[in-house]
Amino acid sequence: MSDIENNKEDDEQNFFKSNPEEKNTETNSKNDKYSQSPNPYSKSQKNTHQSNEDMIDGATYYKNFIRDPGIEGRKASRVLFVRSFNNWIKAVLINKYTHLLGYDYSVLDLGCGRGGDLNKFFQTKVKLYVGADISEESLKNAMERLKKIKNEKYRDNFKVKCYFITEDLSESNNHLMEKINSVFRFDLVTCNFSLHYHFQSEERVRTFLVNVVSRLCDGGYFIGTIIDDNVIVKRLRNRKYNGNSYIDEKFKFGNEFYFCQFYQKRFNKSNGPYGIKYGFYLEDSLDKRDEIGQIKSVKEYLIIFEEFVKLCKEYDLYLVEKKNFLNFYQENLKNNQYEKLFYKMVNLNSSSINQQWEIVQLYRIFAFRKGKQFANNENSNNNFKYVPFLSQTNIPFTNYEPELIQSSFK
Ligand SMILES: C[S@@+](CC[C@H](N)C(=O)[O-])C[C@H]1O[C@@H](n2cnc3c(N)ncnc32)[C@H](O)[C@@H]1O
Repeated sequence: MSDIENNKEDDEQNFFKSNPEEKNTETNSKNDKYSQSPNPYSKSQKNTHQSNEDMIDGATYYKNFIRDPGIEGRKASRVLFVRSFNNWIKAVLINKYTHLLGYDYSVLDLGCGRGGDLNKFFQTKVKLYVGADISEESLKNAMERLKKIKNEKYRDNFKVKCYFITEDLSESNNHLMEKINSVFRFDLVTCNFSLHYHFQSEERVRTFLVNVVSRLCDGGYFIGTIIDDNVIVKRLRNRKYNGNSYIDEKFKFGNEFYFCQFYQKRFNKSNGPYGIKYGFYLEDSLDKRDEIGQIKSVKEYLIIFEEFVKLCKEYDLYLVEKKNFLNFYQENLKNNQYEKLFYKMVNLNSSSINQQWEIVQLYRIFAFRKGKQFANNENSNNNFKYVPFLSQTNIPFTNYEPELIQSSFK
């Protein structure tokens, strides 16, 4: 075992140790006033050192719980700003990179869910779309959505070939490539809000990356959206000092609409930067409640992004861009076309907008390009080196959290 405070060697690593104040709350956890108080959001929890029972496994949740709320259900969401902002980010990201490709392209959408991005692709020069997901129920919704788009918008003019495949994309025994016609090659692979489910183990991430690169053309892009580990770790450390955060749970932060809860802060060292699990809850029109109405969070795994970048290199994928949503938004709002789209797509009348801004800043975009000739083309600072013990001094990236900018509202 290794203990960052006492300089002891052990089999575990502490990802969150930060300041002397935390030392107290950790070592005296039983007497700690924070661990005693009930959380207003999850009344069933007695303390923070419980098992992981309050988390639903991601695959289980999407396979068994999720149901399409329909247009009315979506409109009823209290986090409409988050939903519409995220959609704008994805639309811009897709537009930007398909524009760089500059030709009729083919796309593989990994973890495509209910096909929420279909229309975004159809607005660009896509000729082949293949969507894959573990949830058959979600794929049925995606096919319904496709039918509707075709009938309402294109009628006989629809030219895009579309296929949907049910598969666990990181299960080592997966058959994704066998299910895709061997002549198909992809210019673009996307993965939106789904990559974290694969970070349970290194083996799973590697399996997933094989799926990404197997049919990706040289010079093709792998783009997507994920949780920003910088922001998660920083908020976890600052949780007691943030006026909007809960202060009564040790490893939990959030606001009225979301929470992120770690159940442990020491993780097995032999797993490296994998399996760092937490429960994530975001209020939505799709509520995550069990039979007796208790809120459940969905289990996700922290992506130590710089480690992911290193791993990607082994698969001939080179980072070209990484940005927190807020920075990506600030940069792209300068483009007239994207600015227009922003005011068309994004719902700014949603309530508690500040709290919703907090949520969108939890995410980042990424873009990799396949082929060694594209190495070192990244357009943002990337001098991070992975160290197993993450303390305030040895984790440069946690000093960073984007500023909340609202002056650009009209
Ligand atoms: C938050 S949804 C994102 C859906 C869509 N990409 C979007 O942006 O709207 C996450 C998706 O990942 C899928 N997923 C989770 N674990 C998976 C796995 N092991 N293999 C394939 N898909 C998985 C879920 O079924 C779900 O549809």
